[in-house]
Amino acid sequence: MVWDRLSFPEFSPNCNSLLRRHLSEDLFINLMEIATESGFSFAQAINSGIVNQDSSVGVYAGDAESYSLFSSLFNPIIEDYHNFSESDIHRSNFNTESLSAPNPDPNSQYILSTRIRVGRNIVDMPLGPAISREQRNLIESQIVKSLSCLNGDLSGTYYPLLDMKETIRNQLIDDHFLFKAGDRFLDAAGLNRDWPEGRGIFHNFARTFLVWVNEEDQLRIISMQQGGDIEAVFDRLVVATREIEKTVSFLFDQRLGYLTSCPTNLGTAMRASVHICLPKLSLNLSAFKKITDLHHLQIRGIHGEHSESESGIFDISNRRRLGVTEVECVQGMYDGVVALIKKEKELE
Ligand code: ADP
Ligand code: ARG
Repeated sequence: MVWDRLSFPEFSPNCNSLLRRHLSEDLFINLMEIATESGFSFAQAINSGIVNQDSSVGVYAGDAESYSLFSSLFNPIIEDYHNFSESDIHRSNFNTESLSAPNPDPNSQYILSTRIRVGRNIVDMPLGPAISREQRNLIESQIVKSLSCLNGDLSGTYYPLLDMKETIRNQLIDDHFLFKAGDRFLDAAGLNRDWPEGRGIFHNFARTFLVWVNEEDQLRIISMQQGGDIEAVFDRLVVATREIEKTVSFLFDQRLGYLTSCPTNLGTAMRASVHICLPKLSLNLSAFKKITDLHHLQIRGIHGEHSESESGIFDISNRRRLGVTEVECVQGMYDGVVALIKKEKELE
């Protein structure tokens, strides 16, 4: 889809994005010639959702200012996605003691693995869609320096994508540790510029603690392991994030929490997921969806977002990240997973 950026974009009849739902012609006319101080234009903010008509959301922020300057579009999208209104304030609870999530599947019959990640971006820098090559490289060295201070189980090695052999890169992707290249949604948002320079992955020896550098967000701090010990995964993430925060300051807004390039990740910027095998329940989609909707969960495929499920295995995670605390994100995922396992057992 090509558009001239000064005329109201065409949407295909089957486009269901939040961009399409909330972008009126009047709003477009008011915003179309506006750009933030770092030079990120409204056209750039909506480009991904126009080029990719199958977007579910369709907008990206280039910097903190995008959230205020383009708020007449971003606020309704944020409210629609997170159920978070303009008068709401984000709350945080990132304390391990508040979570009660004993392993719902100690024999690993259903849960293959658990992963919890948070997105973070560096203070006083543009977000990925508006960042310059020099700024991105600077951020990479700042993060690598901070990660080199980690001790014990969290200590590890940084692997820049630039130096990585393709076979190793593909293996890391197949094993669910590394992000893919060439995502078309990120591409149209300007997030793949200068690829692969400035990007990389840090991980500890056991690959239970990982940090993605300069993908969709400048940091994706990840804790993961085999099985369903959700508390252990959460504990590791809390400790690691607090350690990194000792040496790096993150972009944070009183109302919107941690600022991220995609509005779906605002607030906690947390996605807590399990890979879970539900061969019976997945044949009964309405029963499956009834449980996931009740617990505000999202169903993804086995290779993450925009991938398909294989052999009855799904990626189940919290959908909302803003207006809920970190503990609530994980607790909601946990409660939903308990309900899913119960239903699967009934169907066996
Ligand atoms: P995110 O936005 O959280 O980074 P993606 O959907 O892009 O998520 O997934 C990134 C990678 O993480 C993919 O390879 C995906 O399969 C993997 N992943 C997500 N959840 C789990 C999990 N619970 N166990 C193992 N791998 C996971
Ligand atoms: N921009 C994509 C879309 O609208 C992804 C949205 C949410 N996912 C994400 N990785 N930020 O479908």
